Amino acid sequence: MPNAEGKPLRIGPVVVDPPILQAPMAGFTNYAYRQIVREFGGTGLQATEMVNAKGFLHIQAEDEQSYPDRLWGVREEDRPLAVQIWDNDPATLAEVGAKLAHEFRVSVVDINFGCPVKQVTEKAHSGSYLLRYPDRVGAIVERVVQACFPVPVTAKIRLGCTRDTVNAHEVAQVVEQAGASALTVHGRTAQDFFKGTADWEQISAIKPYLRKIPLIGNGDLATPQAVVAALTRYAVDGVMIARAALAKPWLFRQAAALLRGEDPPADLLLEEERELLLHHYELVVRRFGPEKGTVLMRKFACCYAQGRRGAREFRTSVSRISTPSEFHRAVRESFPTSV
Ligand SMILES: Cc1cc2nc3c(=O)[nH]c(=O)nc-3n(C[C@H](O)[C@H](O)[C@H](O)COP(=O)(O)O)c2cc1C
Repeated sequence: MPNAEGKPLRIGPVVVDPPILQAPMAGFTNYAYRQIVREFGGTGLQATEMVNAKGFLHIQAEDEQSYPDRLWGVREEDRPLAVQIWDNDPATLAEVGAKLAHEFRVSVVDINFGCPVKQVTEKAHSGSYLLRYPDRVGAIVERVVQACFPVPVTAKIRLGCTRDTVNAHEVAQVVEQAGASALTVHGRTAQDFFKGTADWEQISAIKPYLRKIPLIGNGDLATPQAVVAALTRYAVDGVMIARAALAKPWLFRQAAALLRGEDPPADLLLEEERELLLHHYELVVRRFGPEKGTVLMRKFACCYAQGRRGAREFRTSVSRISTPSEFHRAVRESFPTSV
């Protein structure tokens, strides 16, 4: 059954309302980005970037008070919030999951079984590599669920490793039986990377294999209309948005409005976007300082410019900035005020 009315979904005790989730994106969905999305509203659950469990324990072994940069803001930030972890060792994942659940008090611990990047698959035998080994996926989920209780654990997968070995339905059953509280499926295989289009029929086909936990569909949702269409046409309980919301962090708010049957608020005006960009910059610089913060901001600024007139010139100039004054100049030139 689709969720055309946009009913909230439940991940264990966590109510996800609206059933529109902000996806984890390494290098992007840090505290500053999440904060901006939260200010616009419209998402029922936000997620951090994926955090490597072994790396986490290594940092802590050196200094108990230190945590991976990717956990910036996680302790203080509003809830609900999911932290995503990755590795291939059940015990390591369970130890880190327990810390996140009980010390950091996050709302959801999500496990990555979808990352197709070689460093994660071939080198660390993690992420989408594990889709070939449903038993291992089951062992990981079971261990992490036990360690995190009562905080719910979820899994994020792709359809399979290759087009010839699509096995998401099998993995879905294993994940549910191991005690996970929700499953997110990106409608591509690892082999696809980001090529082609996400296969929502295949996502939908997983639903009958799940008896009680919600299914969250993900892939290529770039407009409020696409979000509502996905919830109306396909057997998913919720949807997750990644890339399109880098250019438009207000996309969740627009989609949520349309789902309620209202006219979605308009896209931001150039001047509003300029203010947003400066706000985002301030958050990043406050944490990383002007030097590192400015360099880090390059990629976010490039995302904001997408689809704007003069985006290419802006991207070229912003990709070279390294000081606050260069950043402000690039913004002034490409996002002029009308006065
Ligand atoms: C730059 C980038 C980083 C990503 N990092 C993660 C990650 O850390 N964990 C994860 O599960 N998926 C990650 N993904 C995948 C997205 O969460 C999502 O599944 C994929 O982009 C498809 O959704 P979309 O079409 O809405 O972008 C990443 C995607 C991109 C583009």
